[in-house]
Amino acid sequence: MLHRRRTPRAFFDYADSGSYNEETLRANRVDLEALKLRQKVLVDVSARSLATTVVGQKIAAPLILAPVGLTGMQHGDGEILAARAANAAGIPYTLSTMSICSIEDVAEATAKPFWFQLYVIKDRGFSKAILDRAAEARCNALVLTVDLQVLGQRHRDIKNGMTVPPQIRIRNIIDVASKPAWAWSILKGKRKTFGNLAGQVQGMENVNSLAAWIAQQFDPALSWKDVEWIKNIWPGKLILKGILDVDDAKTAAALGADAIVVSNHGGRQLDGAPSSISMLPKVADAVGNDIEVLFDGGIRTGADILRALALGARACMIGRAYIHGLGAGGQAGVAKAIEILVKELDVAMALTGSNRVGDIGRDMIVGMEAKKPRTVKRTRKKMAE
Ligand code: GLV
Repeated sequence: MLHRRRTPRAFFDYADSGSYNEETLRANRVDLEALKLRQKVLVDVSARSLATTVVGQKIAAPLILAPVGLTGMQHGDGEILAARAANAAGIPYTLSTMSICSIEDVAEATAKPFWFQLYVIKDRGFSKAILDRAAEARCNALVLTVDLQVLGQRHRDIKNGMTVPPQIRIRNIIDVASKPAWAWSILKGKRKTFGNLAGQVQGMENVNSLAAWIAQQFDPALSWKDVEWIKNIWPGKLILKGILDVDDAKTAAALGADAIVVSNHGGRQLDGAPSSISMLPKVADAVGNDIEVLFDGGIRTGADILRALALGARACMIGRAYIHGLGAGGQAGVAKAIEILVKELDVAMALTGSNRVGDIGRDMIVGMEAKKPRTVKRTRKKMAE
């Protein structure tokens, strides 16, 4: 894989890894592939459109770039490049709290609003301040990640001594020396450390390991009360990412969040949790009429997007699928990854007899023909306004 060849091992592995035995990481893919699509012929599919809306925003395809920590270590200015590729494709980009480029860097370098992802740390003053910065930068949706109060261990990160910037070890020096294009892109890039956090959070001056930082700063006491607090202080749309349980989905809907992302953090958190796709229909059945249901976890092809839409998702987030493109080819690599997925989704729609993403129902999955079609989304009055 080009990303693997072009990027130092520590950063490739960071993106590629799941937690512990990677059972959930594998289940995400296995369970998606097990869903077989129902081939439907001789349907007029000459008027296909992939356009849809998410949290009231028009998007060109049911696809969103997920927040990914350390994106700017996969390629210099990676966050800016990915945001630009998303803008050009007409889909949202989500900037991680743990990004290298700061909120302001991305806002300055891009023309369209992007989404901001929040991790809540113990210092609530910092959380409030970063939300103010995101609002100031015209971020129009907040993705609150709720499944990472503590970090699921990724064995390869420990083995590689993954730090930002890379640790000076003989092994790392040899690795970086063999990746000159990467090194040059990082040298030219705006920043070499966590852009949103550097100089802003007390006690992090000497912490350059992501795992150590999370252990020190993330708040394990985070609860639904904090979600209410954030909902009150954040002026835009609120999306809760990391919901994998029907009861949690109902609580999120009752609290008035605008959307949830059915997600197990790409198999990077609770190893042994079910695949995202296996939980999606249960969650969609429970809350699909009350809140928008988004999905992530193992999307690698356009057919995967169609599978998730069929089981009740309104749109899918991709993480690794675009990070591999970024590591392989910068902005053009991200654009290519998006283009491939969109093209594949278009073909899959045509060959399953669908003209619009709203036509994609559960009956498109073999074995689910008799099951009810996809729930009608967003009947809540609030969203109609
Ligand atoms: C943090 O967001 C991670 O998954 O590494």
